[in-house]
Amino acid sequence: MITLSTLNKYKKEGRKFSCLTCYDAMFAKMMQNAEVDTILIGDSLGMVVQGHDSTLPVTVDDMVYHTANVARSNKHALILADLPFMSYVTLEDTIANARKIMQAGAQVIKLEGGAELVDKVAALTAAGAPICVHLGLTPQSVNVFGGYKVQGKTEDSAAKLMADVKAVVEAGAAIILLECVPAALAKQVTEAVDVPVIGIGAGADTDGQVLVMHDMLGVTYGRVARFVHDFLTDERNQQSDYAGSVEGAFALFHKSVIEGSYPQPQHQFN
Ligand code: KIV
Repeated sequence: MITLSTLNKYKKEGRKFSCLTCYDAMFAKMMQNAEVDTILIGDSLGMVVQGHDSTLPVTVDDMVYHTANVARSNKHALILADLPFMSYVTLEDTIANARKIMQAGAQVIKLEGGAELVDKVAALTAAGAPICVHLGLTPQSVNVFGGYKVQGKTEDSAAKLMADVKAVVEAGAAIILLECVPAALAKQVTEAVDVPVIGIGAGADTDGQVLVMHDMLGVTYGRVARFVHDFLTDERNQQSDYAGSVEGAFALFHKSVIEGSYPQPQHQFN
């Protein structure tokens, strides 16, 4: 069973770790068989499960439902789950909502933001909920950003991101997740902190890699992000003992992350 201590040990040893989003029991079981290290019940479920255009409509009840479905079925991975949009504005709401999601089976709670979260990170950590802080492109702020754009491209924004990371780590954040930031910045952040850093569209140098499950299975419509690779139709999955199965795609992702063959330079932003 993977715990936070396992991820901290992996970071010290330089062993990369895998993370996939998951929303239901059957895929969670396949991820267990494929030995995926960590699972994120992401509020991306708003788009890939519920058919919304963004993560904003997702509720705490939705997160509780999907977290419980996954946690019942996977006893191997460390389970992270999102607090959804506007569910952590006040400290009181933050603690009450984190409690519901932890009681549904999450082992780590993910919040989107930066230094403004320090009080919440400290309070939740003190109350027994380890926190992952998601920085860079934070989809809950899509209307603030004016679209889904790479973050940290200017010197000022990169310095702000680094300062935000340091502030939340000092407040007790157990994991950092970086989405769509230049690979060089993600490398600097990963080297600057002792806690594990997970990346998506953040280059090869973060400690862990996460992808949305539907994306890495090629279950997508429209534009596919640069960092996505389809592991289901990948020739290595077709030729493997898994014979091109979904479980094989999860196993190939896990192996590729650990070996360092995913992501490749064409998957990163410079
Ligand atoms: O909600 C989600 O799936 C996420 C990933 C994109 C990291 O936050």
